[in-house]
Parts: sequence; structure tokens; C-alpha cells
Amino acid sequence: MGTYITADTIKVLREKRALTQRALAEAVGVTDKAVSKWESGRGLPDISLVEPLAAALGVSVAELLTGEVRRNANRAGNPLRAKFYVCPICGNVVYAFGEGAFSCCGVNLVPLEAEEPDGEHCIKVERVEDEWYVTLDHPMTKDHFLTFFAYVAPDGVTIKKLYPEQEAGARFRIGMSGVIYACCNRHGLFRVPTPKHVLHARP
Ligand SMILES: [Fe+2]
Repeated sequence: MGTYITADTIKVLREKRALTQRALAEAVGVTDKAVSKWESGRGLPDISLVEPLAAALGVSVAELLTGEVRRNANRAGNPLRAKFYVCPICGNVVYAFGEGAFSCCGVNLVPLEAEEPDGEHCIKVERVEDEWYVTLDHPMTKDHFLTFFAYVAPDGVTIKKLYPEQEAGARFRIGMSGVIYACCNRHGLFRVPTPKHVLHARP
């Protein structure tokens, strides 16, 4: 079944706005009887009324159609809430500031759960001049390798894609404090916080 405006959605939103059926009817140019029918499931508003209805009810068209009132959460860049999605088929990497619905190669991707490093995935972060030099002592064979390193800070993300036979290392220009991620094609995602540092040493 497809989704269309439900009787409950109209009623709940109308009452939230403290509108009478008549007031809503007038706002969208129908009779109060029509509104009453929509709210009792005996009729559906015409598609041409979707926009005026959303405007009168103070919601977006998407909210009216799905019945879910959404707020702009402005997912701030909390690096601990960063979500990585990796396609198990082609290795494509998707980064999101929060959870979302992504698919690749016909697969619905699931967010990888980042873990603290274990003995085999111990991320080393060293400062080399104005860069973080990130390494991990890990195989880089075709079957078992690191697929990327990432540096996530509140103001952005940098991903360095890795390939088999390459060095298991990456360099990132040092910016705000954040989190370094490493992803293994077999063992998943690991993370460590960036080391404490002083951006501009005092003379
Ligand atoms: Fe591994």
C-alpha cells in the first residue's frame, strides 16, 4: 500500500494548531463537511489540496504525507556520532553525520559500529609537523586489508581510501580535535580519539 494522507494525521495536526474543522476548510477552500469526511476516513483530500493543507497545518508536504512531524535536527558534527557505511560488494564508502538510508550495488547498507582498537587493530597516531601520521600494523592482502582511514572532526571529515598491497598508513592535516577511524574489510571499524595537541605553539 502506498502512503497518502491519513485521517489521523489531519485530525492530530489540526487539533495541534487549535483549528476548527471549519477554519481548516476555509483555509484550503473546501467545506467543513469535506474535512469531517477526511478525518473520519470517508474521503481523501484531492492531490491538488496537499500543498494548501500542509501550509494550513504548518507542516511540510513530506510530513503531511508520512504523518511524521520532523524537525531539522541539524546534525552537528559530533565525530562520535559519525556513521560509515561500506558496500560489501564494491567497497564504496558512504559517510553521514547521522544515520540514514543508503544503498549500493542493490544492497541496503547498514552503519558500521565502531569499536575500540583490539590487539590486531591498534591504530597509531603520530604527529609529523602539521599532520597526523596514522598507521596500523595490519595485513594489506587482497583478502584482508584496511579499506580506509578517516579523520572526523566537528568541522568536517577526511577519508583516505586504501587498497591491497598499499601501505597501511595515511596523513591528515591537523585540525580540530576529533576521532581517527580505521576500517578493516574483515573486522569492521575501529576508532581512537586524536591525540591532545597544541595547534600554534607559543614562541
Ligand atoms: Fe583485520
